[in-house]
Amino acid sequence: DWTMAEYKDAKIAEIREQVGDKKVICGLSGGVDSSVAAILIHEAIGDQLTCVFVDHGLLRMNEREQVETLFRDHYNIPLVVVDAEARFMKGLAGVTDPEKKRKFIGGEFIEVFDEESGRVGGADFLAQGTLYPDVIESVSFTGGPSVTIKSHHNVGGLPERMNMKLVEPLRELFKDEVRDLGRELGLNDQFVGRHPFPGPGLAIRIPGEVTKERCDILRKADAIYLEEIRNAGLYDAIWQAFAVLLPVKTVGVMGDQRTYDNVCGLRAVTSTDGMTADVYPFDASFLTRVSTRIVNEVKGINRVVYDYTSKPPGTIEWE
Ligand code: XMP
Repeated sequence: DWTMAEYKDAKIAEIREQVGDKKVICGLSGGVDSSVAAILIHEAIGDQLTCVFVDHGLLRMNEREQVETLFRDHYNIPLVVVDAEARFMKGLAGVTDPEKKRKFIGGEFIEVFDEESGRVGGADFLAQGTLYPDVIESVSFTGGPSVTIKSHHNVGGLPERMNMKLVEPLRELFKDEVRDLGRELGLNDQFVGRHPFPGPGLAIRIPGEVTKERCDILRKADAIYLEEIRNAGLYDAIWQAFAVLLPVKTVGVMGDQRTYDNVCGLRAVTSTDGMTADVYPFDASFLTRVSTRIVNEVKGINRVVYDYTSKPPGTIEWE
């Protein structure tokens, strides 16, 4: 049995041992996992660590600014922000298959890291916030014959030619333990309580082709949904809530005008580790309020539906 303080000290020693005086580059996603991994590694090896945040254009509203504030202003950790939106959108053009999207995004991430590591003078290690459930789900879902449900881009798909070795200090932990570790490292409750966000970002919340225009529409709907969840005091009772944008157009009426726009899906689940999940049972009045706001405020969406599927048989993300 160990406490989180002991775990932290043990991991810091382990990281120092593994890394020596070499350089580490850490990919931040904006989420809790990669942030906790980065802050832990920074405690261990200080400015031998450089964080890289890839703005792939698949982020939530204001996410980039939040990461910059936390790492630069609060923790004073060296941070490189890479503007890679154009490059990702170009590569995603015409891609509709979920696994192809994931493979492209994972591969492109590694390319960007490799380039940035060259720029910081050659990093020998790549740090990632991989958790225990990521490791298992990428290998086998049932424990039986290995079936890939989804290629989590921070686990699978690392190209053979990648020059860096991995540092993954959270690989044995579940989400709630990562949150405890985050608090141990001085992160506030609001930050450690953030809902998980997948590495491939909004791309796996837009079935079909991903475009900048679709990402912009989805970002607005998602921000309204989360604002209403926070205002209702429900954020912490939910494991993960997000909007998805369906590549399906339906007919509606606004004022006396016909509309023909996309459908927005809303997802909210409770879970302890993301491996199984139950649908969050919102009041009908809450869903009506969110739906009304999204249709009124987001150009490009004229219908909102609520996803009532638990995991299994659904997964949390739509792709
Ligand atoms: P699924 O959709 O598989 O998601 O039920 C389970 C949990 O994992 C997150 N997720 C990911 N996280 N990289 C990540 O870092 C990924 O590629 C990825 N895909 C899914 C998902 O948001 C949920 O919390």
